[in-house]
Amino acid sequence: LASLVSSEKTAVVSAIVQGLLEIHRGDASRGIELLREARRQAGSANSLVQDSLSALVSGYDLLGQHSAALDSLQELMRCLNKARQEAALLHLGSKIYATGKHSSKAVPELTVLKHREALLRAKVAEERLAWSQIEMLERLAVTADLREEVSGEHGYRVGRLAAELADDLGMDADTCLAVDLAARLHDIGKMAVPERILLTSEELKNAERELMRQHTIFGAELLAKSNIEKLRLAEEIALYHHEWWDGSGYPKGLAGKRIPVHARIVALADMFDALTHGRPYAEPWDMDRAIEEIRKRRGTQFDPELTDRFIALITRLRKEHANLDEYLSAAARKSPFLQARRKIKKMLEQERVPERSGALPGNETRH
Ligand SMILES: [Fe+2]
Ligand SMILES: [Fe+2]
Repeated sequence: LASLVSSEKTAVVSAIVQGLLEIHRGDASRGIELLREARRQAGSANSLVQDSLSALVSGYDLLGQHSAALDSLQELMRCLNKARQEAALLHLGSKIYATGKHSSKAVPELTVLKHREALLRAKVAEERLAWSQIEMLERLAVTADLREEVSGEHGYRVGRLAAELADDLGMDADTCLAVDLAARLHDIGKMAVPERILLTSEELKNAERELMRQHTIFGAELLAKSNIEKLRLAEEIALYHHEWWDGSGYPKGLAGKRIPVHARIVALADMFDALTHGRPYAEPWDMDRAIEEIRKRRGTQFDPELTDRFIALITRLRKEHANLDEYLSAAARKSPFLQARRKIKKMLEQERVPERSGALPGNETRH
């Protein structure tokens, strides 16, 4: 029995050490999985439960998942409280306890943990505030998208597709999710572009084109002002999603790998979505034609290696999903803004008569 207990303890301790190690190495999901496994294996053996919960608090905290860290911490405090009560009952009536000299080991630990709980609560509150700001920005981005595309789902589809490509490139789950959320905001700067420029089917004059191009800078500035760490990636994507691999894009004219990789990814997803859904100045294309157009721009507009991966990805996704659009816009349908957008869509459909020129999007795409 002793060896059984000892081997169980060894397994829990080993899972804790491995879990924390994985988190430090950067494999967050594997690390947390191991720590949760340690918590399960600990069962009700008090010291093991405390060790595994303590490791979970550290793990979640390290990953910035403060709400989950707080949940584990509160479970740990409940566990320590229970242990203290049990210890008190055991010592009830004993001389040490009666003279008041008894001191539970858990007491100072609880004081420290209460302090940590207060810090985590503050972080959770800060995070909630950041999320509500992100939601507000997402609403703004949807509103900007709605002016050009009646579904208002462009950002969501681009986000999903960009995240699929990031995943295909081997980026971790957290990064893929960050790309998804950040890419939704890529055209937020179009809020600052007058509607007559955004919706015209006529060729833009130089000054108008310049103003249109400014949506990258407006967007990045708007996101920078929010001062939310989670939005740094969104800021980067908003600024660079119209840069070209050959350096002829805007706003900075960066070339090759000087363009941040997440922006190179979003550029492909953005072009594909814009071509297949059309714009006020262009009819939608079918997917094969859109893919051909993207292939033509391999090495000029788009990163050649990413272009190949993207085309293979679209081919695979089309096989896996009978309705690719529906798959890509799943987040849009789940979004709490859906009702509001449907109402706006209905309103726009009643008020706007789209002016389709039938012109094909050329080098000057405005998505
Ligand atoms: Fe776009
Ligand atoms: Fe754009």
